[in-house]
Amino acid sequence: MNDDFARLLSLKDTMTPWALRAVATLGVPDLLADGELGAGELARRTGVVPDALCRVLRLLTARGVFTEPKPGVFGPTALSRLLESGGRPISMGPWLDLDGAVGRGDRACVHILEALRTGRPVYERVYGRPVWEDLAADPALTASFDTAMAARAAALAPAVAAGYDWSTARHVLDAGGGTGTVLAEVLRTHPRLRGTLLDRAPAVTAARAAWGDTAEGRRCAFTSGSFFDALPMGADVILLVNVIHDWPDEHAAAVLRRCAEALPPDGRVLIAEHLRDGAAGPLLELDLLMLLVYGGRERDLDDFRALVSVAGLELTGVTETRAGISLLSCQLPQLPFQGIVGNHHQS
Ligand SMILES: C[S@@+](CC[C@H](N)C(=O)[O-])C[C@H]1O[C@@H](n2cnc3c(N)ncnc32)[C@H](O)[C@@H]1O
Repeated sequence: MNDDFARLLSLKDTMTPWALRAVATLGVPDLLADGELGAGELARRTGVVPDALCRVLRLLTARGVFTEPKPGVFGPTALSRLLESGGRPISMGPWLDLDGAVGRGDRACVHILEALRTGRPVYERVYGRPVWEDLAADPALTASFDTAMAARAAALAPAVAAGYDWSTARHVLDAGGGTGTVLAEVLRTHPRLRGTLLDRAPAVTAARAAWGDTAEGRRCAFTSGSFFDALPMGADVILLVNVIHDWPDEHAAAVLRRCAEALPPDGRVLIAEHLRDGAAGPLLELDLLMLLVYGGRERDLDDFRALVSVAGLELTGVTETRAGISLLSCQLPQLPFQGIVGNHHQS
């Protein structure tokens, strides 16, 4: 077999992604967290057929996810540790759980050809309603979505808190802030700041229960609502973390327009997203996922510049943080013009 053939075989692999999701859904990484177990015992504890599980674990062992120190006995690796409930820097378990919201989106992706033919998400065709309506109809799905987002947000939050000059800010509104992981970190590290968390009711309720009674929570208002409606007034920074990429241009511009309308003259909209410029594999994959599940897209700097200008804003600063996510600072047009667009790399 030549190298190209072997490479293509590995690229066309159907089973590794699903095997990985299957063991994450069954909680196998947590069961192996304290050491090795036999496939029979793992199957007993997860309620599956030993032979079938053993074959799945052997494939994943070949891929470096587990070890097989003795025939039929499996152990953890650094990769399976990332799938454990407390995996660091981010637990990937909620992102691979086939019973959760993200896994439900992944399962719709077999219809990729339809997305190519229509340019539209396939989620609605598979589940009968668009993704946000579908999640809203099932509290367990909503909670699993919020848990996955919070796991990612925990890895980004320190970079957002450190990557922007918050010294002159007074009040930050985190629009579509989920359960508030990023906002809580920003408020914790900047004790003069007040905050408002805005999202769908279940996320806001969960946020208030989780950290409403902390020092940060007591400086925060918890507001359920839609960022397509008028936003609460009073914030001089409006934060959008991984929100814009969920939406096609028309909807993304509408969210930004609501932000512009709620902003005081000296205020800022701070968009925290990965930029598609020179993007490596994971972001390109996410770009397709955005198309197939949400109808959104990943954008480069020029895309963002054009998008914010449609919404009546100017892109005036870009900071790439140590977490790889970029902070795009936008403001209302100033007369005379005071903004400078540039790349400032955080040390
Ligand atoms: C990709 S998640 C990002 C969450 C959070 N900013 C983070 O970084 O973890 C997008 C968020 O937008 C929220 N969302 C979706 N539609 C919304 C709407 N119409 N109004 C307010 N929030 C909405 C979702 O509930 C979700 O929390």
